[in-house]
Amino acid sequence: MKISTYLIIFFIILLFALGFVLGYNQNPNATKFQNENNKFIDHNERQIYEERQIGITDQQETKNNIVFGTKTDNETESEKAPDVEYYKKAKVLQNLYPDTFIMNHQTFEKKIALTFDDGPDGKTTPRILDTLKEYNVTATFFVLGKNVKLYPKIVNRMINEGHQVANHSWSHLRPTELSLEEFLLEIDSAEEILQNYINRLEFFYYRPPYGLLTPEQIEEINYKGYKIISWSIDSLDWNVSEPEKIQDKVISSVHPGAIILMHSAGGKDQREGTIKALPGIIENLTKQGYEFVTVHNLINEI
Ligand code: NI
Repeated sequence: MKISTYLIIFFIILLFALGFVLGYNQNPNATKFQNENNKFIDHNERQIYEERQIGITDQQETKNNIVFGTKTDNETESEKAPDVEYYKKAKVLQNLYPDTFIMNHQTFEKKIALTFDDGPDGKTTPRILDTLKEYNVTATFFVLGKNVKLYPKIVNRMINEGHQVANHSWSHLRPTELSLEEFLLEIDSAEEILQNYINRLEFFYYRPPYGLLTPEQIEEINYKGYKIISWSIDSLDWNVSEPEKIQDKVISSVHPGAIILMHSAGGKDQREGTIKALPGIIENLTKQGYEFVTVHNLINEI
């Protein structure tokens, strides 16, 4: 063979080698998470991943530029794992307001809080309450003021059976799309009706509809004395209906001090998935040694 042929072969091999090295070094984490289909098996792994995703620069950028709670550029990514985008934004708020914006409780004790949003209603919430009673488990219900007005007896039942009831706004408008006045009206109207049910000690807990607030809104609500309760585990029961998937999501992400998001109203099929998933979740986590407490008791270590 001619020398030029050797040279051509040599360059082709060189190009392949170069391509391999470059491809291999590109963001090994991203590949890993894609391979796992964006399912976070291990809580610590997720924590590390999220912290890497949000550097200090990103925090400032998010505070200044991102419109909280709106659709992101990376729609396909958030469709695959719809909670990941939320965690990124919520983490920023948690870092900015560690005493006010709460995603979980730092503890080694195996205590966790189940939370149910959007109730009460006349159909799903009573079935959730039945299951909790059967297993002798307490939980926290973030209720809507307008539903409290419609189903006062169910709220009384929650309180009588030892659950915590807390503010989830009057009518579930997205706070990040509201003016400060509209936002406060949503909280205050719910607060007014809830005063008839909740004792002072457990009163000042609020969960924003869709989970996010602007820094200005957080500062305002902190001034009123509220703690904002986000979550560290999204059961995704608003997104998937198969009970097994809801169970897997919760059980695979459980950790001491977890706050778990579920729903006790709304949805096309009356939260049939949540109702069917709940007994399995309670049985599995109890077997693992976890104790179910209210959000108030979890964060105050009662
Ligand atoms: Ni909600």
